[in-house]
Amino acid sequence: MISAGPAPLLRGGPPDERVRMKISIIGAGYVGLVTGVCLAHIGHEVICVDNDAPKVQKLRKGIIPIYEPGLAPLLTRLMKQQKLVFTTSIKEATRKSTVIFIAVGTPSKKSGEADLTYVENVAREIAVNMDSYKLIVEKSTVPTATGQRVERTIRLNLPKKFRARRGGELEFDVASNPEFLREGSAVEDFMNPDRIVIGVESKKAEQLLREVYKPLKATIVVTNINSAELIKHASNSFLATKISFANAVSRICDLVGADVLKVAEGMGYDKRIGRSFLNAGIGYGGSCFPKDVDAFIRLSEKSGYDFGLLKAVRQVNEEQKTHFVRLIEDKLWIIKNKTIGVLGLAFKPDTDDMRNAPAIDIIQALQHEGARIKAYDPQAMERAAGELPGVVMCKDPYAVARGCDCLLILTEWKEFKELNYRKVRESMRQAVIFDGRNLLADAAMRQLGFEYFGIGRGCLGTEGRRT
Ligand code: NAD
Ligand code: UDX
Repeated sequence: MISAGPAPLLRGGPPDERVRMKISIIGAGYVGLVTGVCLAHIGHEVICVDNDAPKVQKLRKGIIPIYEPGLAPLLTRLMKQQKLVFTTSIKEATRKSTVIFIAVGTPSKKSGEADLTYVENVAREIAVNMDSYKLIVEKSTVPTATGQRVERTIRLNLPKKFRARRGGELEFDVASNPEFLREGSAVEDFMNPDRIVIGVESKKAEQLLREVYKPLKATIVVTNINSAELIKHASNSFLATKISFANAVSRICDLVGADVLKVAEGMGYDKRIGRSFLNAGIGYGGSCFPKDVDAFIRLSEKSGYDFGLLKAVRQVNEEQKTHFVRLIEDKLWIIKNKTIGVLGLAFKPDTDDMRNAPAIDIIQALQHEGARIKAYDPQAMERAAGELPGVVMCKDPYAVARGCDCLLILTEWKEFKELNYRKVRESMRQAVIFDGRNLLADAAMRQLGFEYFGIGRGCLGTEGRRT
């Protein structure tokens, strides 16, 4: 999918040619690809590696396998300028660069623990191909102490000639540099970070990483590797906590007749709290929060601490989806053979990513009850089709609404705010909207003749109270 959009401007003007470094990124997924493109954009020579050969073939033709605003035009330009190349060879990338970022996936195991198989594989493959000093940087989200394991893996797998060398082994450093970008605004986030976290154990590693990021003129936090790894887990878990807190408050709002939007606004003006990440809804999804909260709980358990607070955060998040389905069941009465229209499938707007999208659990629960589902998403329908068999994908929101018994908003794409809701209402069988993201103005919807239910908008009142 090709995404369009203007190239983001660099804070402090155009890139400085003198800082050009040779950098490799292993893993060209959401993080690796954005990191590779952005590092090339700020002046470095970048090699992106992926072991998915068809993906690399597409990338070489300028075809981006994900939807990420602003990425495509940058990628095309940088490839033309030969600042960005793609390969499947870790050997080539290792030999040709000084700094090597590992940006492969770290999915959850059944226990919730992060599966570090890909990280270990890549570390070993870098090691066997090393022929001079390298700085190996963890960009993937990993539990504390992974840096030590990566260092050991590399040391044990260096080519024999270096292991045997008198006076010691080949010199190398390992560092942690967690990524904080969000999908949907990844390029913008990378180019304008709130901070860059660098976990290092040597001055040389610190200097190299400072040089990598020099053109961004960002605040740099330097610490040891363990602390850097922990900063990432703590940050994601804290943001997930804010969301679950807002969701818990939304439940009370429904019970007592208060409006969570006003409550969040009133709280958010307090600088110590802030308004961001207080949007109540159908819960957080995506490839990071659910996985990273699980991993942090597991890491804490293994270290001897029971992180009860985070367990509650996870529980509130799960309940939010069940609560939404119960609300629909309550208001729609019989679900069997009803036609339910769904607007939005991706885990958030401006992405095609369906990983842990709340829409999956909600739609499956309704299908289980016998509902017929029609859906539309501006970018995620192709990916969603594989996850959600039986869902009829429609060409636009109006086609979804036609003949529906109710409409669900599961992702707050901007275009859903701007629909002609009079036209939507006229084509529906029953004018009922369940707004899982509080996207629409409740009063306006009611004025148009809809029965409107948001999350924590006080619309259930005492009538919605359940035991
Ligand atoms: P992803 O699945 O989109 O991409 C990972 C890529 O690594 C894939 O293209 C895969 O083919 C490739 N890969 C796996 N093994 C390889 C190997 N041996 N050699 C070469 N390539 C290999 O994952 P992602 O979303 O980019 O996440 C990567 C890491 O970054 C994870 O640890 C994640 O938690 C973290 N992170 C993700 C985000 C996000 O928004 N997606 C944000 C911050 C941090
Ligand atoms: C997140 C972190 O924000 C980012 O720093 C990290 O690098 C990767 O994980 P991402 O998953 O891309 O980024 O999206 P984000 O905007 O954080 O949203 C995550 C989920 O939380 C989405 O499902 C979103 O809908 C939900 N969310 C977010 C809420 O429900 N309420 C909010 O107030 C904010």
